[in-house]
This record gives sequence, structure tokens and C-alpha cells, in this order.
Amino acid sequence: MIIIKNGTIVTESESYHSDIMVENNKISCIGANLSDDNAEIIDASGMYVIPGAVDVHTHMDLQSGNSRSIDDFYTGTVAAVCGGTTSIVDHVAFGPPKCVLRHQIDEYHKLANGKAVIDYGFHGVIQHVNDGVLSDMESLAKEGISSFKIYMTYDFKLDDGSILKVLQKAKELGIIIAVHAENNDVINDLREKYVSNGCVETIYHAKSRPDHCEAEAISRVLHLAALAGDAPIYIVHTSTEKGLDEIRKARAQGQKNIFSETCTQYLTMTEEKYFEPNNNGLKYVMSPPLRKKKDIEALWKGIQDGAINVIATDHCSFNLKGDKQKGADDFTKCPNGAPGVAERVVVIFSEGVMKKKISINLFVKLLCTNPAKIYGLYPKKGSLIPGADADITIINPNPEYTITRNMLHGAVDYTCFEGMKLKGEIDTVIQNGKVAYKNNKFFGKKGNGEFIKRKIMEQ
Ligand code: URP
Ligand code: ZN
Ligand code: ZN
Repeated sequence: MIIIKNGTIVTESESYHSDIMVENNKISCIGANLSDDNAEIIDASGMYVIPGAVDVHTHMDLQSGNSRSIDDFYTGTVAAVCGGTTSIVDHVAFGPPKCVLRHQIDEYHKLANGKAVIDYGFHGVIQHVNDGVLSDMESLAKEGISSFKIYMTYDFKLDDGSILKVLQKAKELGIIIAVHAENNDVINDLREKYVSNGCVETIYHAKSRPDHCEAEAISRVLHLAALAGDAPIYIVHTSTEKGLDEIRKARAQGQKNIFSETCTQYLTMTEEKYFEPNNNGLKYVMSPPLRKKKDIEALWKGIQDGAINVIATDHCSFNLKGDKQKGADDFTKCPNGAPGVAERVVVIFSEGVMKKKISINLFVKLLCTNPAKIYGLYPKKGSLIPGADADITIINPNPEYTITRNMLHGAVDYTCFEGMKLKGEIDTVIQNGKVAYKNNKFFGKKGNGEFIKRKIMEQ
């Protein structure tokens, strides 16, 4: 048994002083002056006690071309929990061409089982559409895979007809489709032009994926969702003002069931990063790319007015040495993706809450409660109520420090946020009723994380 005393308990709607008791992996009681002779006491005076954060956009152990991401389900979830995140929903990688829908789910059960230190779920990936895939959506949803991802770019992008079929099926089943929205033909055209003209420096990664590319794809897929009867749709990693405008426009026209996500990196860094010397700009090669100051401002505004529902990470870590550096002479050779699961909670706390861009309650809503609600984990995850899983993060708002790679606990050899000045740190993390992180040390256990059979989204 654990009792957390004297902290400020924060939910998406309230902040209040109280104690909180944890017994047998669950929150058992919240109230004043809790005591028990057998309890381990954690003093949270002056600190925020929030639900363990939920990251619904990670890519652990991802095979991409001839690179494999460096964080597997062990190191990636150690990084997560030490950074205040106590559950993830991972986007499984593409499988072999023509594979059945459950192929990658079976693979990912093998990759995560016995390794993850926190609870995890999977989004299925739809890389082609036929009757078998559509009927497997139903059977997998019953097994707790209650969301699927589609891509509008990359090798297994879906054409519009296939997207429409997937959205119609999702509407019928009441499940949600996550979409990577970028216009593939535009990207390919620009990449070819740049490379054939010798424009191979890292900045051309951003130039070959302009904001129109994202906005056009978001607009198109939202229209397809409307045609499918307002099928539930979730736009992952929204990165531009233009893209967000399309989401606003569709909602203003009355379209329902639209959810949107942005990620830590799109709120904090611009494309100037691609000019870092010694090929360090490769650290930030991710899709969509980093954008401009005006996009950052538009995204924060979207967060403040509710247009953006979730802040996730798109954690997809490749080492700079050996992997990202494959792009040193040609940006198209750099594996796409960057780490972030370890940094999200403190970076958004510091940049958002401490800089007064968002309230502490909105912070909890965006990082814990909304992702849990949208992806069928709530109230087991993302809440602080009796009966919920005892996944709790305690944040000390006072320390001021500079973040560096050495403070983090994953396998990857860099952080995108190196040198950023932060205020606020993770003090303690309780996962599944036990202390998993304290005093900058990991206390969890390999394999302790369990697969979460997710429900269908709350509507
Ligand atoms: O560059 C990225 N984001 N890689 C991971 C796959 C994706 O697009 O989400
Ligand atoms: Zn993506
Ligand atoms: Zn992703």
C-alpha cells in the first residue's frame, strides 16, 4: 500500500489538496488525512499529482526500410515511465505486402510481451483493403484493437477509394481511424526535383513536405470521413496552421467525430533546426517535418481553444550515429522519426504550464485524459478516481535545469531537446501500484506491462 500525502491532485477539470491511497494496483481512496501503519508514505508537498500520462503515438521496435528503431518495448517503455508516461498505444509497423490485418498484431504481441514495463495497446495498420481486412477490423476490435491507422503517404499508402471503405467500416463498428495525412504525389515530385538538382541538404526534407501537402491531405480525408457518415477520425501529428485550419473548417461545417493530435516537437522547434552544423540537423528528420514560427503559434492557439485534443510524441527513435547519419549526403536516405517519449511531459509542463500558455488542468486533459478517452482506455487510465489503475505521476514544479541526453533513460543517443531550459521535473512515478521511478532511478521490472484490451471510443 502507498499513500501520497499533501500533494495537489489535478484532473482535467479540478485541482485540490488531498491524499491518495493505492492498494492492489488500484487507487483505493482519495481524501484528507489518510493513514495506515503499513503504508509506504510519499510526501508530495508543493507538487502536482496527475494521472500517469498516456502516449497514444509511439513506434517501438519499428522496422523502416533497412533501419530498425533503437528503442524496443523494454528500453522505450523505461524511457516513457521515467518521463512520467505510464501507458502507450503503439502504432505497429507495416508488414509484408498482402499480409492479413492480424499479422502485425501477432508480431507486436511477440515484441512487447515480456519486455514492456508499462501497459500498452496497439493500433492496427491497414496497408491494403479487401474483404478479409474489413472483416478482420471487426474481429480485432473485439480483441481490444479498437483503432487502426492508415497512411496517405509512404509505400503502403491507401488510395481514396480504399480510405472510404475503411472509414465506412469504422463508422459501422464505432471505432476510430488514425490518419497520417500528407499528399504523397506532391512529396515524391518535390523530392525527385530537389535531389536531381543536387539539393540534398537536410533542410530539403522540410521543403519537400510543405504545409499545403499536409492541409490538402487533411482536407481530403475529412471529406471522405464526412461521406462515410462522419466516421470517427483522428488526425495524427498535425503540424501546420493550414492543416489545423482544415480541421476547424470541417468542424465549423458541422462534421462530427473529428479528433486531432499534435506532438511536442511541433510546439517547440522550427525548421531552423535542420541547419544545425555537423549534420546534427538529421536528428529532426521526421514526417511531417518541423515547421515555422507561425505554425507553432497556431498550434498553441489550437491547444488553448480546444481545436487540438491530444499532445503525443510520435516517438520513433533512431540513433544519430549510424542510422540518422545515413542521410548525411542525401536527406532521403535518413530514416524518418525522432525520439520524444521521455521528454513530452516535462517539456510540455515547462513550455505550456510554467510559461502560462495552458492551465495545469488542460495539461492533464491533453496528455492523460483525452488520449485515454479517445482510444478506449478511460477511466482505467487517464483518471484519478477510486477504482482506476494506480498509474500516477508526481511533478515537482520548482527545479530549473537544462535537459540533456544523459538525464534520459531510453536507448537512443540523442534528444531533440538538448540544451532546452526547463522548469519542473518528474519526482516520482507509480505504475501499476508500485514506485517505478524516483530520485532519477528506474525501479520497474521488465515484462511488468500488460496488453490493454481497449474498449470502443466513448462517444
Ligand atoms: O517520421 C516519422 N514520423 N516516422 C514514424 C512514422 C510516422 O510517420 O508516424
Ligand atoms: Zn506519421
Ligand atoms: Zn508516427
